[in-house]
Amino acid sequence: MPDRLARLEAATAQLEPPFALVDLDAFWANAADLERRASPKPIRLASKSVRCRELQGRVLERPGFSGTLAYTLPEALWLAERGFEDLLVAYPTVDRRALCALARLSAERPGARIAVMVDCPAQLDEIEAARARARADAPVRVCIDLDAGLRLLGGRIRIGVKRSPVHTPAQAVALARAVLARDGLALVGIMAYEAQTAGLGDAPPGRPARALALRAIQSLSARELSARRAEAVAAVDALAQLEIVNGGGTGSLQLTAREPAVTEVTAGSGLYAPTLFDAYRSFRPRPAALFALPVVRRPSADVATVLGGGYIASGPAGADRLPRPDLPAGLRLDRQEGAGEVQTPLLGARSARLRVGERVWFRHAKAGELCEHFNTLHLLAGDRIVEEIPTYRGEGQCFL
Ligand SMILES: Cc1ncc(COP(=O)(O)O)c(C=O)c1O
Repeated sequence: MPDRLARLEAATAQLEPPFALVDLDAFWANAADLERRASPKPIRLASKSVRCRELQGRVLERPGFSGTLAYTLPEALWLAERGFEDLLVAYPTVDRRALCALARLSAERPGARIAVMVDCPAQLDEIEAARARARADAPVRVCIDLDAGLRLLGGRIRIGVKRSPVHTPAQAVALARAVLARDGLALVGIMAYEAQTAGLGDAPPGRPARALALRAIQSLSARELSARRAEAVAAVDALAQLEIVNGGGTGSLQLTAREPAVTEVTAGSGLYAPTLFDAYRSFRPRPAALFALPVVRRPSADVATVLGGGYIASGPAGADRLPRPDLPAGLRLDRQEGAGEVQTPLLGARSARLRVGERVWFRHAKAGELCEHFNTLHLLAGDRIVEEIPTYRGEGQCFL
């Protein structure tokens, strides 16, 4: 039996699958590598990519990490109640109840420093209305989301994710002025997340032509964004001194951190290192999150079927969003059935030798989403399980 499998099996012999596990040796090695790539800029932790409060707290104790990039306002409020500070909510919110709670919290506990993302005046109206309803007098912190996409041929070709309409420095200044015109809002930052470089591996396996095209576009896009981001930041900073200029993600840390205008970078996925992060040339994180499923039946001599497994990642549906059987080596999903809600048949050289009752170890495609399927994570250190800690789900929280 290969060493990695032997170590996992020996450490978890007492556990009943299905269960999820985080290999702390890999997790902390990944954290150190993220810090190295981001240095000297601090890393804001993308909580959506971890979804385990206990682990997030421990990561934030490291010197290279500071603050949380939250994914919903209710999540940020929940974390703030539990002592987390400096929370930047990465996506716009129209949750009126949560905005009222934010307005109250901003007055009662300014130290929590929650900021919400905006990219249009309608969102500013929502925040102001909530603030008036809450009768809170402290300003609500807001951050402008600057589109990080690449536009070619006068905007006829657009590369990047469809996020903010604020693309040019002039548009950023116009929105900044709209924020500053409202007494109840404080403009604290600009964020520009370059998904087309940070979240898209430049070494897709078996696709050399796509790899070359991706690299050319990514390098063009990085150069364009660096100049535009610096211009937008300088123009907005002249109106309101910015605390936060955030950019980047696991896949782009070393590039984004180099930009003088950027004060901090974001990362999260690189800690668990799911399969979507296998395809980058500039770094190779160690798989740290795994889940184990039991073989429950053998439909035929060459097929072994495990219980559950249909933990499909979000994004454009395709084979890269499926979980991948990792150990023992020599297993693959069935093209007809994929990973199923209640069972997953496995084929491949090793499947004929799997017995009912044995386990198969999987890796999932996208970081934090694994935690939506498990109440706890078992923590492996060295050769033993040292702890079992709750995921967000395990704490009864489902934010998205
Ligand atoms: C706004 C924003 N910043 C950064 C990231 C990068 O996070 P990760 O390092 O988990 O890929 C994401 C991921 O989607 C994001 O939405």
